[in-house]
Amino acid sequence: MEKVIVTRRLPGDAVEKLREKYEVTVSPHQRNLGYEELNELCQGAAGVITMLGDRVDRAFLESHPELKVVSNYAVGYNNIDLQAADKCGVTVTNTPGVLTEATADIAWALIMACGRRIVEGDRLTRSGGFDGWAPEMLLGQDVFGATLGIVGMGRIGQATARRALGFGMEIIYYSRQPKTEAEKQLGAKRVELDELMSRADYISLHTPLTPETRHLIDKRRIGLMKSSSFLINTARGQVVDEAALVLALRSDKIAGAGFDVYYDEPKLTDGLTELDNTVMLPHIGSGSITTRRKMAEIAAENLSAVLQGRTPPHPVSA
Ligand code: DGY
Repeated sequence: MEKVIVTRRLPGDAVEKLREKYEVTVSPHQRNLGYEELNELCQGAAGVITMLGDRVDRAFLESHPELKVVSNYAVGYNNIDLQAADKCGVTVTNTPGVLTEATADIAWALIMACGRRIVEGDRLTRSGGFDGWAPEMLLGQDVFGATLGIVGMGRIGQATARRALGFGMEIIYYSRQPKTEAEKQLGAKRVELDELMSRADYISLHTPLTPETRHLIDKRRIGLMKSSSFLINTARGQVVDEAALVLALRSDKIAGAGFDVYYDEPKLTDGLTELDNTVMLPHIGSGSITTRRKMAEIAAENLSAVLQGRTPPHPVSA
């Protein structure tokens, strides 16, 4: 039986089913593995189901000659060196599609929470600070009728934009390629990124992390935002220069930000936790029970396909 590693316990029974065909080891630790731990656990493995925090770099790939497949339990795969995988003959796969709607829901949870100060309101009420209705208490920004700027109009960007129709929003987007179908269906308008940054009331990031998108939202672009605008990041932390964002938030240059992802997660950028104009989630964009089960099924199917010599449903390449 070939050896298969799963680096975290997964919801559902997909891993149990893998045991019928492979010698499966699930990491005994209920935490992210360190690089050395990952290396050690994967000795002799033909396949590994990795998490987005597992660093699969050239050195790792070169030191596991038996490895045929790295099945990432995520749609993003910036944790994996694809060129090195290609060179080592290792197939890399991901889990797209099934997490689109769940992630768009979380982007919207952050939009609503930021605009209408939901978390601040909860904190105030819990702490006994609610002393009666007041005309000027916790005033926020309208969501209905506002302008939504989508950066990265792929599946999740489009799903986030689709929800904006119910809120009567104007939708503008930035994408390398025009998305004509989305333009027709959603009335979305493609604009340059600088224009989007300066016009949108809510800017929602949905681009994968690549060398081109790292710090796409840099200090200069943050500086283009209106003082009443919000930045929502459910994509990857390093798409934003987070230190520059903290400065803008601290000096109220922008109204606020919603985070599901962080620059160097799970570490938080200095100053972030001291801000009141932020809503911070622990990377739970895809975290619905159904979605995470489906992700496990897809990750298992990707892995099995490669080990059985078939083309996996969701390969990714450099
Ligand atoms: C992904 O899939 O890339 C998300 O960040 C976690 O589900």
